Amino acid sequence: MRQTTPFSKSSALRAAISLLQGRLVAFPTETVYGLGADALNRQAVSRIYQIKERPRSHPLIVHISNTNLLKYWVIEIPDYAQQIAEQFWPGPVTLILKKNPMINDFVTGGQSNIGIRIPNNSCALEILRNFEAIGGTGVAAPSANMFKSISPTNAQDVWKELGKRFSNGDLIIDGGNSKIGIESTIIDCTKLHPKILRPGYITQTMLENFLDIKLKKFTQKNKINHSGEHLTHYQPKTPLFVNITPLPGDGLIALSEIDTPQSVYRLSTPETLDSFASSLYSSFRKADEMKLARIVVILERQDGIAEAIMDRATKASTRILN
Ligand code: TXA
Ligand code: MG
Repeated sequence: MRQTTPFSKSSALRAAISLLQGRLVAFPTETVYGLGADALNRQAVSRIYQIKERPRSHPLIVHISNTNLLKYWVIEIPDYAQQIAEQFWPGPVTLILKKNPMINDFVTGGQSNIGIRIPNNSCALEILRNFEAIGGTGVAAPSANMFKSISPTNAQDVWKELGKRFSNGDLIIDGGNSKIGIESTIIDCTKLHPKILRPGYITQTMLENFLDIKLKKFTQKNKINHSGEHLTHYQPKTPLFVNITPLPGDGLIALSEIDTPQSVYRLSTPETLDSFASSLYSSFRKADEMKLARIVVILERQDGIAEAIMDRATKASTRILN
């Protein structure tokens, strides 16, 4: 297959047709690149698990272009979930809702809940709209990386990560860099109150202010037992440490206000938390390619997206077992 296909109106239509024919299509979203398949096609969904070497019990997020399709996938949408959807979709938020029992559960790893998201990326939306116009109902898409590896934030990284595993007819649509760079905020909406299962660009404070309620604090301990929640998820090959002093030969990721010590390689110098997030995973990949001794992430802030950055950096970090 061709390495990557530039996004255009015609490649978006081709991508939609390919999806409906059971092919896999990697496509950009504002968070990270997704590896898409027709969510109703058992064989296509099965290939996602095969290619990623992801355990079958780990559910996939279904991507749609508008809320009219929600009724197909879910029953019972609590008022607060409806409000979150209206406010933050299209956007970097995945809502976990009670699955319509008519829907087969191969996309949800056998669970009775389903994750749904409307991404805020013009390429993704164009592909989804085309897909729906020709009869599709949703695109299942995990991040387009091997299980336990780092999510890709551009088309080249998808190719490097999975290219050899694709078949003829599969596509990687190149729509530039993912703007946010870390995966969506996941909110469990199956109970009386919403609960954050994975932090992201839409923060707990934003949700609390919007809904005017206090949410249970997200901690590493009250997480769900699925792939995003494995201790060793998001790991680069290079050992990674958080908030320690870098040594000569290390790679450093820190805000621009922090100086680079001598003989340390500066992997990125973001001026803002947003650019810290959007360059995080490509910096991890750069360190792997350069075979640096270690990656050191320094970030002492806790506001806004810093929480999600620290969540990903901590999961990527090397644990000293004792
Ligand atoms: O930003 C994102 O969410 C990206 C883009 C492509 O949309 N997708 C993504 O998918 O990160 P994935 O599969 O790499 O991570 C989704 C996480 C997994 O940890 C999965 O277990 C969890 O969401 N998840 C999906 N459906 C779920 C469900 N029904 N209940 C609980 N957790 C669920
Ligand atoms: Mg993932």
